[in-house]
Amino acid sequence: MITSGSWRTKSFKSYNFKALGVPPAAGHLHPLMKVRSEYRQIFLEMGFTEMPTNNFVESSFWNFDALFQPQQHPARDAHDTFFLKDPMYSHTFPMEYLQRVKRTHERGGYGSTGYQYSWKYEEAQKNLLRTHTTAVSARMLYQLGQQEEFTPVKWFSIDRVFRNETLDATHLAEFHQIEGVVADYNLTLGHLMGMLYEFFKKLGIEKLRFKPAYNPYTEPSMEVFSYHEGLGKWVEVGNSGMFRPEMLLPMGLPREVSVIAWGVSLERPTMIKYRSEQHSRVGRSQGRSANGPR
Ligand code: PHE
Repeated sequence: MITSGSWRTKSFKSYNFKALGVPPAAGHLHPLMKVRSEYRQIFLEMGFTEMPTNNFVESSFWNFDALFQPQQHPARDAHDTFFLKDPMYSHTFPMEYLQRVKRTHERGGYGSTGYQYSWKYEEAQKNLLRTHTTAVSARMLYQLGQQEEFTPVKWFSIDRVFRNETLDATHLAEFHQIEGVVADYNLTLGHLMGMLYEFFKKLGIEKLRFKPAYNPYTEPSMEVFSYHEGLGKWVEVGNSGMFRPEMLLPMGLPREVSVIAWGVSLERPTMIKYRSEQHSRVGRSQGRSANGPR
């Protein structure tokens, strides 16, 4: 039309500078965020409610003591945990409950002999970057124990945790944990295994194996392995257990109530899903796994 000059006799509509453009095919959600929303969806389908996890800074009390983790436990060392310089200490705790925690560590009770050592308030006051989201579960279970009447709950959380790791290609000082918690009357290890099968099935993982493990706050405890078709071997995917009476009874939960729980790292399954070259290295430093015993 330009070369022939025919444009002179045609009529054109005016250009609309306000029209929406074609969206550019660039930018995407981070893989971790995608897998995170998949997990959230699975928990919601299973009737779980999300716990508030918006506090990276936690006191040793909720991260360790409330979980019946003795004050001389190696995970409470500065080599394993980031402690805060400022503010160094927490000052507000539910004092009656704190006294029961102290007594349970020192002398036991509830059918336990405790750890037989002298429990220090100053140690529990020390602030840190939470090393696991089980600290959040502990706060929530304490609140549940304060309720006039117990009501069964199914809770989950997905958020960041911090460990003082030596950094390399497969180890970061921060990662994400996914945690599921169920509290009800007369729960058994069978319920926990059933929950785990259901949970992993929704992720497309059907073959599971359980291995006895140790956590200061659960008994029995089980590591969870799944068969990875691509790698052709069993890989550890999580850690689980039934919270100990030494943890639950000082919180005020009824004796007949059991609490089953499990923790999974978000990074491990994401690496497997996206076929990262690094995913075959399972262990974290110092012989601990991503969800290893704390
Ligand atoms: N807190 C454990 C970890 O960091 C995971 C876990 C959660 C284990 C709940 C048992 C019960 O590895």
